[in-house]
Amino acid sequence: MQLLESIKQKAKSLKKTIVLPEGTEERTLKAANIIIDEGIAQIILLGDREVILQTAKKNGLKTVEGATITDPKQFGEKEVYADMLYQIRRHKGLSRDEALKLVENPLYLATLLIKNGVADGEVAGAMNATGDVLRPAFQIIKTLPGISVVSGAFIMIMKEQHWGENGIIVFADCAVHPDPNAKELAEIAVMTARTTKAIVGAEPRVAMLSFSTKGSARHPMVDKVVEATNIAKDIDPGLQIDGELQADAAIVDAIGKSKAPGSSIAGNANVLVFPSLETGNISYKLVQRLAGAEAVGPVLQGMAAPINDLSRGCSVSDIVNLAAITVNQAGGTM
Ligand code: ACO
Repeated sequence: MQLLESIKQKAKSLKKTIVLPEGTEERTLKAANIIIDEGIAQIILLGDREVILQTAKKNGLKTVEGATITDPKQFGEKEVYADMLYQIRRHKGLSRDEALKLVENPLYLATLLIKNGVADGEVAGAMNATGDVLRPAFQIIKTLPGISVVSGAFIMIMKEQHWGENGIIVFADCAVHPDPNAKELAEIAVMTARTTKAIVGAEPRVAMLSFSTKGSARHPMVDKVVEATNIAKDIDPGLQIDGELQADAAIVDAIGKSKAPGSSIAGNANVLVFPSLETGNISYKLVQRLAGAEAVGPVLQGMAAPINDLSRGCSVSDIVNLAAITVNQAGGTM
C-alpha cells in the first residue's frame, strides 16, 4: 500500500499524458476521473465521443470532462497516422488501405499517438484480450535496444513481511511470452531485476526457478534454466542471480541452506523468474488467491515505451494504480 502511494506521489510530479483506448468502458472512465482529479496524469480517451460523455454524465464523473476525447472514426488526422503506420509496417505487406482501417482501431491509434509523442504511455485491457493490446505495441513501439522480448512482472505484496523484501516478491514472466528460450529467459531475468530496483527500490536477488535445485534432476528443461542463468550473468555481470532453484529453496531460508549450500540467493530471493509463462501465470494467480497477496501488474518490461495491459477482471483502482506505474515508467523513474 505504502509502495503504491509513493508511486502515485511520484507520478503527480512527472506531468505525463496517458492514453486510455477503452474510453467508453465504465471502469476506465471512473479511473480516468480519479487520475485527473488526483493529478496523476493528463488523459486522452479514445472512443465514441457521445458514448463517453453520456457514460460520464450517468456516473456523475465531472472531472473526466477535462480529458482530451478523440473518436478514432472521426479523427481529423486519420490520413497522417495511416501514413505513419503504412511506413512502419509496409515491409510486412501492410497496404495503405489496411493502414487507414487500422487507425480506426483505438488500440492501434493509441500506440501511434505514443510513437508520435502525443502520449507518453498507454493502459488498456479492461475489455480487450492481452494479445490484442500487445500486438500493436509490438508492431509499432517495439522493444528497447538490446532486448528482444517483452515480458510482464507482478509485484506480489504478501500478507507476511518475512517473505522477499519486507513482504514484496517480484514474479516474471506472468503475462506475455509463452515459451522463452534460454537467451529470452535471461533477458526476462535482467529486465525483472531492473523493474524490482525501480519499483520496489530494492537490490534484486534473482532466483531462476525450476523443478530441480543444483542438479537434483536432469532434464532439458533444467538445462535451459542453467543456461539462462549463465547468459544473464554475461548480460549483467553485477547481477545477483542463482539457478536452477526450486521455489522452496529460493524463498525458505532453511531449505535454501540445505539444498543449495553456499548460494547467496537460495532462501533469500526477492525476484522469482519462472521457466515458462504457464508456470508464472499459474503461480501468481495461486499466490494471489490462496495466500491473499496483492498482485500489482502486470508491469510490462522491455518495451521501448510504457504500455501496460490490464486483466479484464480489473477494478477501477487497478486501472488507477497501473496508470501511475505507467507514468513512472514514462518518466524514467522505473
Ligand atoms: N516481445 C516482443 N515482441 C514480440 C513478442 C514478445 N514477447 N511476442 C511477439 N512479438 C512480436 C513479433 O516479433 C512480431 O513482430 P513483427 O510483426 O514486427 O515481426 C509481432 O510481435 C507479432 O508476432 P506473433 O508471433 O505473430 O505474435 P502473436 O501476435 O501471435 O502473439 C502474443 C503475441 C499475443 C503476446 C502471444 O505471445 C500471446 O498470446 N501471449 C500470451 C498472452 C496471454 O494470454 N497472457 C496471459 C493473460 S495475462 C494475465 O493473466 C495477467
